[in-house]
Amino acid sequence: MKKKITRREFLQQASVATAGVIVGTSLLNHKSYGRILGANDRIRLAYAGVNSRGSMLIESFSSVKDIDILHVCDPEKVALDKGMKMAAAKGFSPKATEDFRTVLDPAKIDALVVAAPDHWHTAAGVLAARAGVNVYVEKPVSHNAAEGEYLIAAMNSHKVVVGVGSQRRSVPYFQQCIQMLQQGAIGDIYLAKGWYVNNRPASTFQKGAAIPEGLNWDLWQGPAPRVPYIGGVVHYDWHWTWRWGSAEAANNGPHEMDLMLWATGAPFPGKVTALGGKYQYQDSWECPDTVQMIWETPGLMIVWEGRSRNGARIENSPRGTWYYGTKGSAQLQDGFFNIYDPKGKLINAIKADGRNAGDDGTNTASPGKYMDNLHAQNFCDAVRGKAGLTVTPVEGHKAALYLHTGNIAQRTGRTLNLDPANGHILGDKEAQALFGRTYEKGWEPKV
Ligand SMILES: NC(=O)c1ccc[n+]([C@@H]2O[C@H](COP(=O)([O-])OP(=O)(O)OC[C@H]3O[C@@H](n4cnc5c(N)ncnc54)[C@H](O)[C@@H]3O)[C@@H](O)[C@H]2O)c1
Repeated sequence: MKKKITRREFLQQASVATAGVIVGTSLLNHKSYGRILGANDRIRLAYAGVNSRGSMLIESFSSVKDIDILHVCDPEKVALDKGMKMAAAKGFSPKATEDFRTVLDPAKIDALVVAAPDHWHTAAGVLAARAGVNVYVEKPVSHNAAEGEYLIAAMNSHKVVVGVGSQRRSVPYFQQCIQMLQQGAIGDIYLAKGWYVNNRPASTFQKGAAIPEGLNWDLWQGPAPRVPYIGGVVHYDWHWTWRWGSAEAANNGPHEMDLMLWATGAPFPGKVTALGGKYQYQDSWECPDTVQMIWETPGLMIVWEGRSRNGARIENSPRGTWYYGTKGSAQLQDGFFNIYDPKGKLINAIKADGRNAGDDGTNTASPGKYMDNLHAQNFCDAVRGKAGLTVTPVEGHKAALYLHTGNIAQRTGRTLNLDPANGHILGDKEAQALFGRTYEKGWEPKV
């Protein structure tokens, strides 16, 4: 009788295991239609969004040889000044620019680095791709489950490199551990579990507040339908609104979800269920502060726990992953990788590269500079055509889609059936209405 091929065996045989059905597998080493970079040419960068993560990305890209930062863009003056200061500290003299769209021209720049809020990620990525400019998009690649497909289509149509901010992919330690899991260190994995915990304070948003001087509120809102200014959202706390953010799930979840999908080679989910709520404070947050999400694909269950307002660690860590397989189990965290036999006895312990020392999984600007620097290097190598991307937008989209559909299951309070070919929701009109978003007129993504 012919032996049934396992997911792991399939993974080992497939050259690009997670490419999915939306696009083909020709994602690596895209050559931009823009300037052809020679081995010694400097990569000219512009930044969109430089408050917290963006300023950190100025620092990490400055560790790459032969880059130049020509434009620092942000519609908010305070953040713009911060980004300019960081660029100057790293030896660059960029132009302070309010609107990144004015510099999207391959004659001016080779790549745009996007660390604006989530509602801008796909929109900025698509605009850059259409202009023929390579783009690095922070995670999640999308504000909602539908958007990632636009980003992938834009990348394929316009032949630009699209990097994704899942920095663990570029770290040799994670590459080694994941490879061990893919090669059967614990047999076939049937359960993967990830988590993120933090102790975030209550937030108060001020409806009807005056727009602060130095903020272009219209540009900040970009693709999102216009509303009068709301005080308290512009830095970071937009994460907790559905209009601009996508909750803790798509904020911190993409890192561990990406590891779990990478290790298991899971396809799009076939089913998702989630429970949760805003239990700790009754404040301005629209999204839950505590959730449990579960997805199912053939032979595999994936679980993610998010606890935003109770810092009690799990396994002594604010974030991490566990894997359970037919021949044992394994725990993979930013600092260590432990493998256990079926009885739970530790049989192999691998420590992360010492250069990860000092990493902090709850740092909101960067959980680890060493990881960021390696990832910036990989993106620049890909732009030069010297290396493939360690993580593709297809993988970034899939990780985001898992979490966005988890959010939809929590919001509707229902188990959702999904099309395993692409993660689309089947037969539930209310849930389907939350799969994409309404755009400000004229801002609908055009690939
Ligand atoms: N990979 C990681 O480890 C990591 C870590 C932190 C944050 N992030 C991601 O980075 C993004 C930014 O996070 P943050 O904490 O810096 O948020 P933030 O709110 O502090 O900063 C976002 C900045 O983007 C600016 N902005 C808004 N519209 C813009 C536009 N049209 N053009 C240019 N800039 C615009 C805002 O004015 C603000 O200064 C988020 O999507 C987050 O998920 C990733």
